[in-house]
Amino acid sequence: MNRFEGQIVVVTGASRGIGHEIALSFAREGADVACISRSQANSDKIAEEIRALGRKAWAYALDVSDTNAVAEMSAALLKEAGKVDVLVNNAGVTRDNLFMRMSPEEWDAVINTNLKGTYNLCKAFIRPFIKQRSGRIVNIASIVGLRGNAGQCNYSASKAALIGFSKSLAREVASRNITVNAVAPGFIDTDMTSVLNDSVKEALLKEIPMGAVGKPEDIAAAVLFLASKEARYITGHVLVVDGGFAM
Ligand SMILES: NC(=O)c1ccc[n+]([C@@H]2O[C@H](COP(=O)([O-])OP(=O)(O)OC[C@H]3O[C@@H](n4cnc5c(N)ncnc54)[C@H](O)[C@@H]3O)[C@@H](O)[C@H]2O)c1
Repeated sequence: MNRFEGQIVVVTGASRGIGHEIALSFAREGADVACISRSQANSDKIAEEIRALGRKAWAYALDVSDTNAVAEMSAALLKEAGKVDVLVNNAGVTRDNLFMRMSPEEWDAVINTNLKGTYNLCKAFIRPFIKQRSGRIVNIASIVGLRGNAGQCNYSASKAALIGFSKSLAREVASRNITVNAVAPGFIDTDMTSVLNDSVKEALLKEIPMGAVGKPEDIAAAVLFLASKEARYITGHVLVVDGGFAM
């Protein structure tokens, strides 16, 4: 399938895990992809993988919480690529701690990357989307934004906020043929979750009705659907992809 032939997609946190799979999946379906991560070497690596699939790729190294850096990147990309069709806000971090012990630094690091980063990227591309009267935004939230999680007050607050943000922006831009949706992954096998110890992983698995962790491909499939023509009438939606974990 070449659902995204001729389209240009921006993916943050594209160097590994879920973002890496999202970037590759779009390229496999015909899109050209702008890859954003914190290091140039990592962004170059995924961009090379996309070029190897015969697509165009741009590689940017920046911190998504840096408003000026995001504005510079978007200006450079729009100048070079001419347009952007899809924005996927996937970059995210955790700094887990019980609330009693959570430092202001742990709070800020998570809110700045997960929430302000998404604000920065949306701010950078919303005007062009409005001008071209089209655009798709998919924000990667989490089921902990819906159900909470002990030890993740910062992270679940950022993800719940992303859901409120997505719905509010969706309402503001719906009449311009722009959709804004969120995907809420459950427990997905990536570097982010590899740091959990075995007893935590076992306890989590017991709570998942499907009895297995998800794969980055499961999230990528949901993101591509929400960005596709088939999803043109879906906006302000939270698509939970979690093997039944949060139901
Ligand atoms: N893995 C899971 O179980 C799970 C569950 C729910 C939600 N999520 C969300 O999915 C997204 C991807 O998670 P993952 O598991 O692939 O994580 P990961 O840690 O493997 O990858 C995160 C990516 O984000 C990038 N990144 C982090 N901070 C950044 C910053 N300030 N600026 C630019 N890039 C930055 C990293 O370079 C990396 O490429 C995150 O938003 C995460 O919160 C993951």
